[in-house]
Amino acid sequence: MIFAQLTDIHIKAGGKFAYNCVDTLSHLRKAVAHLNAFRPRLDFVVISGDLVDLGNADEYELFRQEIDQLTMPFYVIPGNHDHRDAMREAFADHDYLTNEGALQFSIEKDGLRIIGLDTTIPGKHDGHFDADKQTWLRAELTAHKDQPTLVFMHHPPFKTGIEHMDDIMLMRAEEDFWPVVTGQSQILQIACGHVHRAIEVFKNGIPVSICPASGHQVTLDLEPDGEPSFVMDPPAVRIFRWTGGELINHLSFIGDFGGRHPFFDKNGNLID
Ligand SMILES: [Fe+2]
Ligand SMILES: [Fe+2]
Repeated sequence: MIFAQLTDIHIKAGGKFAYNCVDTLSHLRKAVAHLNAFRPRLDFVVISGDLVDLGNADEYELFRQEIDQLTMPFYVIPGNHDHRDAMREAFADHDYLTNEGALQFSIEKDGLRIIGLDTTIPGKHDGHFDADKQTWLRAELTAHKDQPTLVFMHHPPFKTGIEHMDDIMLMRAEEDFWPVVTGQSQILQIACGHVHRAIEVFKNGIPVSICPASGHQVTLDLEPDGEPSFVMDPPAVRIFRWTGGELINHLSFIGDFGGRHPFFDKNGNLID
């Protein structure tokens, strides 16, 4: 089974560009074309939050119009730029989503459990994992104890060193989140968004990744008190390959970078 993670699309309505600079709609169209063209065909796509920029109905309408061009099923969770109720309304036909409160899901695909968490706090940019969310996740992990599991969440539960983003991470991750997942050996990976660049850490025995955004990327600035800014590094999606035993993930950059160039000549010899 092969599937993808797409994240941090930040669609704006009315032809507006994000930060008066980024044409996020064009970036989404390129991302959808990239995902549709991927071979072998993707089985599905998980979209890990910040679907739109301000969280209003116009933006969700535009997002739906574009994302519905995907030729495979897709699953969504919210980010801090989403509005939970407007998003629930826009995806009312997505019956895998929980009906009230946090907008989360737990599904099984080819023996792999896929859990999507809602780490948002309405009206705020940082994230949290309150008692209700802890109870729900604990129950899911207990109910599917023997099933290999991949967890998606928007806010990463670790500090990246990019300070202005670390200020709006999953708050109280050590107290509220890590005790729920630590020691749950069925969790193969936690895949996040929010930071708009490729970052990975191995924490409490679990690999945790962040996926680049479909448009603008957060500047890699590890200086203390670095100024918040973004750069137009190549956008990317993560491609996951589930073998039934192993979960492998690749970054797939969106854009034309030349190639495919052959390694071998027409006689089968390595080109020297
Ligand atoms: Fe974002
Ligand atoms: Fe975010």
